[in-house]
Amino acid sequence: MSINKEIRRVTTHTLQRMKSNGEKIAMLTAYDYSFAKTFDAAGIDIILVGDSASNVMAGHETTLPVTLDQMIYHASSVVRGAKRCLVVVDLPFGAYQGNSKEALSSTIRIMKETGAHAVKLEGGEEVIESVKRIISAGVPVMGHLGLTPQSIYKFGTYSVRAKEEAEAEKLQRDARLLEEAGCFSIVLEKIPALLAGKVSDSLQIPTIGIGAGSHCDGQVLVMHDMLGITTEFKPRFLRQYLNLSESITNAVQQYIKDVRSGDFPDENEQY
Ligand code: KIV
Repeated sequence: MSINKEIRRVTTHTLQRMKSNGEKIAMLTAYDYSFAKTFDAAGIDIILVGDSASNVMAGHETTLPVTLDQMIYHASSVVRGAKRCLVVVDLPFGAYQGNSKEALSSTIRIMKETGAHAVKLEGGEEVIESVKRIISAGVPVMGHLGLTPQSIYKFGTYSVRAKEEAEAEKLQRDARLLEEAGCFSIVLEKIPALLAGKVSDSLQIPTIGIGAGSHCDGQVLVMHDMLGITTEFKPRFLRQYLNLSESITNAVQQYIKDVRSGDFPDENEQY
């Protein structure tokens, strides 16, 4: 008897089926080959090559500085490690806001140069022409509403969005527009759980929440936050599954001690 070892890729259709069956979708960010390989083997549904690379990989204060070339470098490393999950890449700030032609040419570079499966961009009505143009070229698009970090200087703070009626109504309208334009999913970031539930129930496509409560169809976290690599960022929505910063610090300090004392390498660790 031969065992079928073929790996079945998660697609946008898989995600749609998961929503219909009431199965929750698990998404994490990743930015390199090794973590992507580990997350993929662990069974993650989607890896997002987020523009949070700007913060956690490059040390910038905001997501604004990361460039299209840098996103392409991270995404192509991730794609080499991810054999089964869907890989979505953020269009960085400045790569799509100009017009829909610019949005499409940035997307084409991402798709050709990385081998990723979809792109994500921030905003609703303001970017709807770009969303339509990218989808008409055959590329799946994930939307992103609520706290959209590329607009941080407009918002002024990273606090919860859409608490007021007018903003909540705009968000619901934008979600409908994105679905009608053909988006396969929408990230809802840092909005009240009740509103996120209402949006999720009203859409056919899955919502993926971050700080948007339990009614979303899936959840996403930034890998450095959930693994405890970042130490200074502790918002209420974050569940930290490991304290890697502490474990790594302990390991590195032990290594320094072993090198200094001559304990490393020992007889079995040399040729
Ligand atoms: O860039 C990112 O990591 C994101 C997630 C927070 C959704 O957009």
